[in-house]
Amino acid sequence: MGGERVCERLSEAVGGTPMVRLGRSLPGFAGEAYAKLEFLNPMGSVKDRLARHLVERALADGRLAPGGTLVEASSGNTAMGLAMMAIEHGLACVLVVRRQTSPEKLAALRALGVELVLVDGDLPPEHPESYNRKARALAAAIPGAFFPDQHNNRENNQAHYATTGPEIWRQMAGRIDWFVAGIGTGGTISGVARYLKERDPRVRVLAIDIEGSVFTEYWKTGRHGPPRRYRVEGLGDEEVIACPEFELFDEMLQVSDRDAFLATRELARCEAIFAGGSSGAALWGVRELARDLGAGARIATLFSDSGARYLSTIFDDAWMRRHGYLEPADAADPADPGAATLDARAAPA
Ligand SMILES: Cc1ncc(COP(=O)(O)O)c(C=O)c1O
Repeated sequence: MGGERVCERLSEAVGGTPMVRLGRSLPGFAGEAYAKLEFLNPMGSVKDRLARHLVERALADGRLAPGGTLVEASSGNTAMGLAMMAIEHGLACVLVVRRQTSPEKLAALRALGVELVLVDGDLPPEHPESYNRKARALAAAIPGAFFPDQHNNRENNQAHYATTGPEIWRQMAGRIDWFVAGIGTGGTISGVARYLKERDPRVRVLAIDIEGSVFTEYWKTGRHGPPRRYRVEGLGDEEVIACPEFELFDEMLQVSDRDAFLATRELARCEAIFAGGSSGAALWGVRELARDLGAGARIATLFSDSGARYLSTIFDDAWMRRHGYLEPADAADPADPGAATLDARAAPA
């Protein structure tokens, strides 16, 4: 797909995103690393792919009818993709979103006319009002509702097996040593991993989880440890869900919120790639891997969403300091002595 597409509807513009070689963010790495820029999808994230795939399938096989309602739990990005599909097909859209989701995402969803159901992200997953339970309950209660269930419905993985995987394979000219990606629902990494490994069984896959999520312990031991709170949006979970195909992961690492956020900020400054926290997490994973790889190694990764969705969090120095991710003395721009003063004024009392 080239850059001169003319589309009859916005969802036709999903996919066909570019891959860009990483340079300054990987000092000393003699191999090659390329990142697929998924924030260039029309609604700004990798999740546009699954929204289009799931809604088109459900409309085709009658699980969803005109006039129906889309109901889903989302960290905000799937919600944006579903909002696009709802508008195109004249559907209503009810999204369960954690109250802690960045204000930019909530404002964007309201702009698109979706009905937001905000839930407390600290509730345990078994609580009926929790993020993971609420959407299912709403879908059962609303007549004509369709619940894509992105966390447990492996059609999610299929969306990436059918599009993201083949695109990466072609863009990397079939030469990939490692694929590195964050794991949220697990749909992206599982679908891409399955496709790439089918084409070349030597491709290895590094999944990036977040400290506090239960996935890594489950992958290592088969056990389900207690979840802890974390702030990177879109990665990890507080319970094991059905979409991640754990058997496809060769390595799994847990990044801290701090390392993910600092890498996100470096990505902007080193590469002009203005991406979100899960992209910083992926860059952190690429760096961990790159330490042990030399010339000739080829790494593919994927950056899921845009930094514009985190201006009031990751890219706000006052927020970063308040949560201990930056030292009090760290200013956005060391050459700008006014930065600290501006932040002090902007920070809530
Ligand atoms: C910002 C962001 N990054 C990464 C992911 C992870 O993608 P997946 O759910 O396909 O594992 C998500 C998913 O919610 C996300 O919103």
